[in-house]
Amino acid sequence: MRIAVVGTGYVGLVTGTCFAEVGIDVTCIDIDVKKIENLKKGILPIYEPGLEEMVMRNTQKERLTFSNDLASSIQGCEAAFIAVGTPPGEDGSADLKYVLAVATSIGENMNNYMVVVTKSTVPVGTAEKVRKAIEQALAARGVDIPFDVASNPEFLKEGAAIDDFLKPDRIVVGVASEKAEGVMKKLYKPFLMNGHPLIFMDIPSAEMTKYAANAMLATKISFMNDIANLCEIMGADVNMVRKGIGSDVRIGNKFIYPGIGYGGSCFPKDVKALIRTASENGYSMRVLQSVEEVNENQKSVLYNKIHSHFNGDLSGKTFALWGLSFKPKTDDMREAPSLVIIQKLLEQGAKVRAYDPVAMKEAKHILGDTIEYGKDEYEALIDADALLLITEWPEFRSPNFNVVNKLMKNKVIFDGRNIYEGADMREKGFKYYGIGVKHQVAEVKETV
Ligand code: UDX
Repeated sequence: MRIAVVGTGYVGLVTGTCFAEVGIDVTCIDIDVKKIENLKKGILPIYEPGLEEMVMRNTQKERLTFSNDLASSIQGCEAAFIAVGTPPGEDGSADLKYVLAVATSIGENMNNYMVVVTKSTVPVGTAEKVRKAIEQALAARGVDIPFDVASNPEFLKEGAAIDDFLKPDRIVVGVASEKAEGVMKKLYKPFLMNGHPLIFMDIPSAEMTKYAANAMLATKISFMNDIANLCEIMGADVNMVRKGIGSDVRIGNKFIYPGIGYGGSCFPKDVKALIRTASENGYSMRVLQSVEEVNENQKSVLYNKIHSHFNGDLSGKTFALWGLSFKPKTDDMREAPSLVIIQKLLEQGAKVRAYDPVAMKEAKHILGDTIEYGKDEYEALIDADALLLITEWPEFRSPNFNVVNKLMKNKVIFDGRNIYEGADMREKGFKYYGIGVKHQVAEVKETV
């Protein structure tokens, strides 16, 4: 079986490589010449654990090839996946110009039946636009080649993308013909070994499923952040509340960790896009509007604690930041809460020294030398007035607190992910702030 994947960004590269891994002949196509040149040499544009080795292995076996030439690469393919970017436009809606440009060039160049699959996260109705673009291109050539469109939303998480693709919870495919269903079944058969379902549905439902899944997860997070903030006011501990509610299988124990707000390439964009789609069609997504509002506020919660701890005087103080990426195991800085916190600190005349195991290069593109960068987590702490735990990388979970204590000028920790225990930190000689948890400094002041 032969397929083409257009777009070698995050989704495209993982998709193409994982299909190659199970023995399908895959060509990954991109208009970016430098990117393809690099990929041929095994240099990847993104960081994702395990991906580089998998790309190398499949390139060597010649099951995975890279090309700038869509016209020749799609010949003989049974499916072509569109996995190009859909950046948010100024009004928050997904910009489809890249998706539709790829559809047009597929129509201009295809010579056999194929299923054209949208893999990028696209609004309801996009597969229909893709179909029209291909039809127009075929009509302009004066040819009538049969094809189908399909929608196959991607649910992979950064940092766990390969596992998510190879062992998916479910695969959702929207189709409008039995023939297309047959092709998609053949393609995904190798991924169904662990008994998880391949769910076929109509195309608009598949398109909606992607948004509904991300919006539901974002809702869980904002809900818990709201509960955490209230816990703090009421003297409850959100860690206890989380365990208490998470053991109810109807609620579940995943995605109910409070923190400093969700970031990344998906949740913020998809929540905005769904609100937008609804309002364009005369409906108001009131829950999601609040989800977004709560998330924006949550990015400032840690800063507010810092501001009040130092009585509003942050000028000349040095803050050590552990973690910059929006979550661990990725170098992705898109919509990262760290950026909001850093900006607020810098505005107050504070100094920031950050360390992140993989995201520093990416962060430098955005922040340049407005902040300093530590060569490791300990160097970032030298003479710091506070430690800010921003991203819960595993290596930050259990540092040598004796060293931490000695290096810091002022022994105070602001833990944006609740990875440390308040009581434990107090015993180790630190003032401690978390998100919605007990044993924070305010409480210590009252009880001591
Ligand atoms: C998400 C979806 O999980 C994935 O299915 C979809 O395909 C793309 O969007 P991703 O953005 O890679 O994946 O990250 P994810 O692990 O879902 O985390 C998103 C954000 O939520 C992060 O900022 C994370 O810190 C935050 N989060 C997650 C919480 O604050 N609390 C939680 O309990 C879980």
